[in-house]
Amino acid sequence: MNQPPPTTPAAQTSAKHRPLPSVPHRGVRIAGTGMAVPERVYTNADIATLCETSDEWIYQRTGIRQRRICDPRKGESNLTLCTNALRNALEASKIPAAQLDAVIVGTITSDMKCPSTACMVGAALGAGTAQAFDVAAACCGFVYSMNLAHDLIRVGTHRTIGVVGCDSVSCFTDFTNRNVAILFGDGAGAAVLHATDDATKGVIAQINKADGTGWDNLFVPGWDQQIPDNADRQVVVPGCLHMNGKEVFKFAVGTFQNLIKETLDMGQIKVEDVDMFVCHQSNARIIQAAVDRFGIAATKVYVNIDRFGNTSAGSVPICLDELVKAGRIREGMVIMFVAFGAGLTWSSSLWQV
Ligand code: COA
Repeated sequence: MNQPPPTTPAAQTSAKHRPLPSVPHRGVRIAGTGMAVPERVYTNADIATLCETSDEWIYQRTGIRQRRICDPRKGESNLTLCTNALRNALEASKIPAAQLDAVIVGTITSDMKCPSTACMVGAALGAGTAQAFDVAAACCGFVYSMNLAHDLIRVGTHRTIGVVGCDSVSCFTDFTNRNVAILFGDGAGAAVLHATDDATKGVIAQINKADGTGWDNLFVPGWDQQIPDNADRQVVVPGCLHMNGKEVFKFAVGTFQNLIKETLDMGQIKVEDVDMFVCHQSNARIIQAAVDRFGIAATKVYVNIDRFGNTSAGSVPICLDELVKAGRIREGMVIMFVAFGAGLTWSSSLWQV
């Protein structure tokens, strides 16, 4: 039973400032996960037909062997990936879409600028009048959204939320530009979060940060005037993703490791107490650097970048779904989700599932 919110002097005097309803002893569980990737495979050899590169170079520098790329002629798009991923997560959770209180989609590659992808996913799945909105946090899109959804459930305003992370970066990739053509793939993952009376389940610690001063290291200019004055206009082109790979690499290696340390400290647990690290798949070398620094057992860090490349907001929930399906995430485990990306943004979520 819900308890009445605590009465504060402010609440007694001002009806406008009533505290949010809060539900004591409420936990949050991951009720189901799902994923969806395009059928079309682009191997490194395929990329090498579009720009000057090689399978050997790409694999050595990134760990990527292949990625999936949407084929719009076959009806594949950001929306279909999001919808299919959440449909699969709902099926796994055995919760009907009509019970969703909210649909949150982490994406920066919506098919349309308006409305949000979340509204269209909700409509496609029969989520009725569930709240729906997108979160634009690039590769952090899923972890930001998951933390937000968790808190909405924990505080008591929502019971069930469908969270999707999806990007189809191919829609603004110039495949003749080897800086970006080698790295990204399209894909979506989703999780259904649901309230539980077991208060031990849910987030132990979370960090959500951004530093917008670094925006020009990874961006898509909309039109000519948005290109920074000092940029090479042969390289930075409106409508195409531009990445300063070296700067992003430095940011990612440092941030990734600090994020793990700060999250462990916040959760007051040791690295060996974490059963699984579900990390953004940006580059296998960046993940390996963190593994080496903390001495994490290889079995506790999932890597699938070889098959999917960097799917931006899709990468963490795709890893999650593959781990759940493989039986490698089980009830009671402690899991750390970690992501970083354009913005610049970084985010973590330490769970007891
Ligand atoms: N294929 C073949 N050769 C390439 C190449 C490619 N795709 N890209 C660059 N090169 C060449 C360069 O011209 C350079 O040659 P040189 O030594 O003769 O001058 C050499 O390879 C090294 O280039 P460099 O740019 O230093 O490569 P790198 O080791 O920094 O690797 C990235 C490039 C993009 C793989 C790396 O910087 C990276 O992973 N950055 C982070 C990207 C990321 O994570 N983005 C998403 C964040 S969410």
